[in-house]
Amino acid sequence: MFPLRLTVLLLYSCYTHLHPHAILGAPLTVRDISDELHKTTNQIITKYGYPCETHYITTEDGYILTVYRIPKRNPQPEGVKPQLPVLLVHGLFGSSADWVLLGPENALSFLLSDNNYDVWLINCRGTRYSMNHTTLDPESKPTMRRFWNYSWHEIGVYDIPATIDYILPLTQSKQIIHVGHSQGATSFAVMMSEKPEYNEKVIVHIAYAPAIFLCNIRNPLLKLPALSERTRLYTKLRALLGDFNAGPQLYLLAEIGKIICQVGSSLHAVCKNIVSSLFDMSMGQILPNLLPILLGHYPAGASTKQLVHYSQSIIHCDFRKYQEGPESSSKYNLSHIRVPIYAYSGNLDTIQVTKDTVKYGKKLIGGFRKLYVIRNFAHSDFVFGKDAKRLVYNSTINILNSL
Ligand SMILES: *[C@@H]1O[C@H](CO)[C@@H](O)[C@H](O)[C@H]1NC(C)=O
Ligand SMILES: *[C@@H]1O[C@H](CO)[C@@H](O)[C@H](O)[C@H]1NC(C)=O
Ligand SMILES: *[C@@H]1O[C@H](CO)[C@@H](O)[C@H](O)[C@H]1NC(C)=O
Ligand SMILES: *[C@@H]1O[C@H](CO)[C@@H](O)[C@H](O)[C@H]1NC(C)=O
Repeated sequence: MFPLRLTVLLLYSCYTHLHPHAILGAPLTVRDISDELHKTTNQIITKYGYPCETHYITTEDGYILTVYRIPKRNPQPEGVKPQLPVLLVHGLFGSSADWVLLGPENALSFLLSDNNYDVWLINCRGTRYSMNHTTLDPESKPTMRRFWNYSWHEIGVYDIPATIDYILPLTQSKQIIHVGHSQGATSFAVMMSEKPEYNEKVIVHIAYAPAIFLCNIRNPLLKLPALSERTRLYTKLRALLGDFNAGPQLYLLAEIGKIICQVGSSLHAVCKNIVSSLFDMSMGQILPNLLPILLGHYPAGASTKQLVHYSQSIIHCDFRKYQEGPESSSKYNLSHIRVPIYAYSGNLDTIQVTKDTVKYGKKLIGGFRKLYVIRNFAHSDFVFGKDAKRLVYNSTINILNSL
């Protein structure tokens, strides 16, 4: 028995050694990805044989962002219209890793690269990849409060514009394609209402579960902070502690998760339930071997103020600037958005429910170009769902290819 197993194993390893794609191309359900728990986004990209560049972009207010790029695989064929660069913007507590964890042939980054797009993955301020600033130290007392004093407003007003203005001259393009998941779509709407000149710089916006209106939010974990905002608990806490990282890297949780969430663990089902509520994923979309990996990449870092700002969206049922004191803040003007938007909504999403996405569309001049309602999809299924490629990315790539 043993020698037979050994022979098979040896043959298998020779085979996979000679044909790395034999194993890399294997369906994600059987591929061993446990090493990706501690890998960074660029390490995961290069692991699969894709090129990856690291760029540092400094915003107007001094934050230093790490932005990864998967450059075009093939030179542009003569006479064919060059494809525009694509910027992928992650959601709250996420990072650039969101767009690669499903692996080659499944994750949006790899699919776009296979279609010869120039792919850019931003890490917004305060995520573990972008915890740097020209003058403020995010971890030391005197400057910490000031570093973490930002919301998704600043991501929209500084991070995304800085990244676009960096990409355009470098790629000699006039426009980019913008894909945002959840907060990635929030910051897009902020950018356009505050800096409408960026309408000229974006050809199309793909919005997965865009977190603009949160009037009908059902997710208990996110309703909680809203409730405490009503009792002004956060405001009191902020006055006491200042702003801080609400999503620090949890090394211990990742290690525990690795053990209890691995395939074959007796607690696998428990883990699946926890991840399903924490990430707002539908049970049917969770890939067993992705479970222990997710906890290594989440939370990737976010400021308390981002949460409080969302709480205000929930309470006011409106899309407004951050309210610092008792006086209400001004609304973002959504009629400044002129970029065509293709929106996607999952009918099981308890954070961004379809009704609220529809409301966003109604505020746009001319509405969405199209709204896709994905059956049996929840909030994070747009980045981690088993069927994201078939139900979402395929149509996205078709849209982009027809531009
Ligand atoms: C932060 O950015 C500065 C450049 O301003 C660089 O010298 C330093 O190495 C960076 N620190 C980290 C931890 O990346
Ligand atoms: C945070 O920054 C805003 C300006 O963006 C400022 O008005 C506010 O006083 C700052 N808050 C703290 C606690 O530093
Ligand atoms: C919002 O923007 C539109 C278009 O630029 C403008 O007509 C409208 O007056 C603005 N609304 C507010 C409240 O500023
Ligand atoms: C993806 O879209 C193409 C059309 O461009 C279609 O032919 C194909 O069947 C789709 N694939 C899947 C897996 O849905």
